[in-house]
Amino acid sequence: MSPFISVCACCWFFVAASASRDLTYRDSDILSLNTAQRTSEQPYRTGFHFQPTKNWMNDPNGLMYYKGYYHLFYQWNPYGAVWGTITWGHAVSTDMLQWHILDVALAPDQWYDINGCWTGSATFVAANRPVLIYTGWTNISSSVEHKIQVQAVAVPHDSEDPLLQKWIKVNDNPILVAPIGIDPTEFRDPTTAWIGADGKWRMVVGSKRKEDGVALLYRSSDFLHWHKAEDPLHSVVDTGMWECPDFYPVSIGGQNGLDTSVNGPDVIHVLKASLANDKHDYYVVGTYNSDYDTFTPADSSHNVGIGLRYDYGKFYASKTFYDSAKGRRILFGWVNESSSAKNDIVKGWSSLQGFPRKIWLNGETKSSILQWPIQEIETLRRRSDSLSGIFLEANSVTRVTGVEGAQLDVEVEFDMPSLNEAEILEVDSSNVQLACSQVGKSHKGAVGPFGLLVLASEDLKEQTAVFFYAVLTGGGWKTLICSDQGRSSLNNDVDKTSYGSYMSVPSNDKSLRLRTLVDHSIVETFAQGGEICITSRVYPVKAVNNQAHLYLFNNGSVPVRVSHMIAWELASTTIDVDVPAR
Ligand SMILES: *[C@@H]1O[C@H](CO)[C@@H](O)[C@H](O)[C@H]1NC(C)=O
Ligand SMILES: *[C@@H]1O[C@H](CO)[C@@H](O)[C@H](O)[C@H]1NC(C)=O
Ligand SMILES: *[C@@H]1O[C@H](CO)[C@@H](O)[C@H](O)[C@H]1NC(C)=O
Repeated sequence: MSPFISVCACCWFFVAASASRDLTYRDSDILSLNTAQRTSEQPYRTGFHFQPTKNWMNDPNGLMYYKGYYHLFYQWNPYGAVWGTITWGHAVSTDMLQWHILDVALAPDQWYDINGCWTGSATFVAANRPVLIYTGWTNISSSVEHKIQVQAVAVPHDSEDPLLQKWIKVNDNPILVAPIGIDPTEFRDPTTAWIGADGKWRMVVGSKRKEDGVALLYRSSDFLHWHKAEDPLHSVVDTGMWECPDFYPVSIGGQNGLDTSVNGPDVIHVLKASLANDKHDYYVVGTYNSDYDTFTPADSSHNVGIGLRYDYGKFYASKTFYDSAKGRRILFGWVNESSSAKNDIVKGWSSLQGFPRKIWLNGETKSSILQWPIQEIETLRRRSDSLSGIFLEANSVTRVTGVEGAQLDVEVEFDMPSLNEAEILEVDSSNVQLACSQVGKSHKGAVGPFGLLVLASEDLKEQTAVFFYAVLTGGGWKTLICSDQGRSSLNNDVDKTSYGSYMSVPSNDKSLRLRTLVDHSIVETFAQGGEICITSRVYPVKAVNNQAHLYLFNNGSVPVRVSHMIAWELASTTIDVDVPAR
C-alpha cells in the first residue's frame, strides 16, 4: 500500500463543501427529441453511437468503470449546438451500448472555472475513490485577454453511489497554475495519474514551449499538492500545442489491457497527444522508466505528432481507460461534424463519440497499436448476408442484397491481389488525403480501387467509398486505404474531404481486410485487423434509412477475389435520461 493512500484518506475530511450550487442544467429538460428517434427532420442522428439528446458535445472526459457502470463524461454546452459554456455532461452504461444520461457533473460555478470546466481525467486513488482532475478556464481580471487555464480536483459527494451523480470541487482548488515559462492559455487537459516506483503519483498536462509540443510532468504524494518535474515526460519540436495527452501501459504479449500504474518487463507504453495545429491524434510506442521518469520512443521517426495516428479521418481529443470488468483498455474519441455551424444549429446538436474501441499492442510491429470495436457490438447484429469466393471483375459493382439500411457492420476479406500489375504512381505520403480524393474521382486503376460502397443510393449518385488501391512507387509497392466522401451527399454545404493512409502489408500477409461500421452519418473503418482506422461524417440526402444500400466494387482492371464477406444489420440502442435501477 502506498503511503499516499493513508495520507489522502484524511485529506478527504478536509475537502468538505465548497459544494457547487444546485446544478440546473439537465440534458433531460427537452425530452421531445430522443436519440433513438430519427425523424425525417433528423436523418443524421445515430442508432448505436453515444450522443446527447441535444446541443454541442466535444471531448470525452473522466472515463472509468465503477461499481458496475461505465462512466462517460463529455464536454457539453447546455445552451446550444455550438461550442460554449462548457460543462461535464455525464452518462452511464452497463455495456457501452445503452446509455443513461444523468445530471451535469461539473459546471462553471467557481471563480477558477467560471468560464468553463474543460477536459480532464479520472484516477482511482484507492479502489473506491475515484477523483477527477480537470482544467478550469478562469479570469485573472475582467479583461477578455486574461482568461487562463488552471487545474482543479473534484471528488464524489458519495462514493457509495455507483452512479457518482454528484461531485464536489475541493477547497484546495486550483491545485495547479501554469509554471513559469509556460503560457497560461496553453496549459490544459490533465491525464489519468499513475504511481511511479517511489510510490508517488504522476500526471501529465498538455502544453507547448515556443512551437514545441510538450507533456509537462507533475508529481504528488497526496493528489492535491503537485510539483513539476524539471524535465517534461516528452516533447517534440515544432509540433505545436499538445492537447489531451494520454499515457498508458500496454502488454507486450497479448491483448489484455493494463491498469495505468502497471509497469515492468512485459510492458511498453503509449503516449498520445492531440495536435491543436492539425486536429489529429498522434501516438508513439516507447519505453517508460519510472525511476527516472523518462520515455523513449521505440522509433523516433514515428514520434508524437510526426508519425502514427489513431485515426486518419475525423477523430480528436481521444482518451483511453482501463476496463477492470473485462481486463481491456478502451478508447473513446470525439467525432466532430463535417457540416456547417448553421446546419448544426438547425439540427440542434453537434458531434458524436466514436464507437468504443479496444486497443492493444500490434504483436507484429511491437511499435504500433491495433484498435477494434468492442465485442459488445455483436449483440446488436441482426439480419445478415454473406458471400465467399467470388470475383469482382474489372469495373464492376455488386449489390449486397440481403442487408440494407443505415446501421451496418461489414467485414470483408480480399485475396492479396497480384501486384505485378500495380500502376506506377508517385504519391506524396504527406498528402495521402489528396491522393484518395483524386483516386476516388472516377479513377480507373489497375490493382484497385476496390472495396465497399456504403450509404449508397440505388442510382449510386450518393455513395461513400471505402477502398484499397495498390501502387508501385520508387520504394516498392504500397497500398492506399481510403474513405472517400466525395460523393457521399447531394448536399454541397458539407465538408466532403477524403481521408486515407498508406498501409504497410507484410509480404507474408495473404489478404487485405476491412471492417466498416455504418451509422446514418458516421462511417468507421478498421483496415487490416485495426492497424489503420478512418472515421468520417457523411450526410446523404437520398441514401437514408432503408434507402441506403451496400455494394462491393472494383474500379481496377485486375479482377479481385473476395474470399469472404459478411454484413449485418445492427439494432438501435437507446439513450435515455432515466436513472437506471440500483
Ligand atoms: C471575465 O471576463 C469576461 C470578459 O471581460 C467578463 O465578461 C466576465 O464578467 C469576467 N468574469 C469574472 C468572474 O471576472
Ligand atoms: C469541427 O468541424 C468544424 C466544421 O467542419 C470545423 O470548422 C472545426 O475546425 C472542426 N474542429 C475540429 C477540432 O476538428
Ligand atoms: C468507380 O468508377 C465509377 C464509374 O466510372 C465512378 O463513377 C466512381 O466514381 C469510381 N469510384 C471510385 C471510388 O473510384
